[in-house]
Amino acid sequence: MSHFTEANRHYFDEKATHYKTDFAEATQLLISEIEARRQWIGPKWTDTESGRGQDITLLDYACGPGTVSNTLAPFVTKAVGIDVSDNMISEFNKNAREAGVAEKMVGFKGDLLADTISDELRGPNLFNFDIVVVSLALHHFPDPDFALKRVADRLKKGGILLIIDFLPDEHTHAFHKDHPEAAATIGKHGFTRDEMKKLCEDAGLGAAFDYQVVEKPMKFVLKGKDQQRTLFFARACRT
Ligand SMILES: C[S@@+](CC[C@H](N)C(=O)[O-])C[C@H]1O[C@@H](n2cnc3c(N)ncnc32)[C@H](O)[C@@H]1O
Repeated sequence: MSHFTEANRHYFDEKATHYKTDFAEATQLLISEIEARRQWIGPKWTDTESGRGQDITLLDYACGPGTVSNTLAPFVTKAVGIDVSDNMISEFNKNAREAGVAEKMVGFKGDLLADTISDELRGPNLFNFDIVVVSLALHHFPDPDFALKRVADRLKKGGILLIIDFLPDEHTHAFHKDHPEAAATIGKHGFTRDEMKKLCEDAGLGAAFDYQVVEKPMKFVLKGKDQQRTLFFARACRT
């Protein structure tokens, strides 16, 4: 695990048990924006004409406590979460049990960004996903270009990558000063449409690219200070 990934693991291990309550308003926004865009993400779900009766598999990379998987689990046949934080994975699996979807929603620890990928992440059940999602995590990766190639590799041909992240932020200097521990886990403060398009194309995701900015701001509090970010959803298809 790289030094940077280790900083993320440590930071999010500490945050895991109270993450959903600390970020309750932000989590609610994430859920409603995902629900509103399900057909935009892709046409194949267990309740749609093109997906009914088929296996529909989702990889939630850097899954945290599983907000994306919990939201989409009713509409897929399998949702796999991977995260570098043990405590986040415990929360992910607890939330799956509490939602009554533990038989199809399973998380485990792993690092797809490591120089050498571990044997547990090489199994055939961890390839050929219909959908791969990276939500609120691309900005925590040391090299987004490399990361997108690694996650795109897990998609089947025609599979869809969904990235949810922040628009570039002008207040990075103040953020680094006020929140050095959080800032140490961030590789890049946000992504423009053009940056996302190029990242997707470089990762072999040349089809069906789209990028939508979420109107409602994501609000949260860090160490007593109000924060506000603008979210985007980017989608692309493996060719
Ligand atoms: C801000 S949280 C987002 C969690 C979740 N995806 C969501 O949308 O609520 C970022 C997550 O990325 C994970 N993470 C950071 N670097 C990672 C890496 N290299 N590989 C896997 N997970 C990573 C952290 O442990 C943390 O759970």
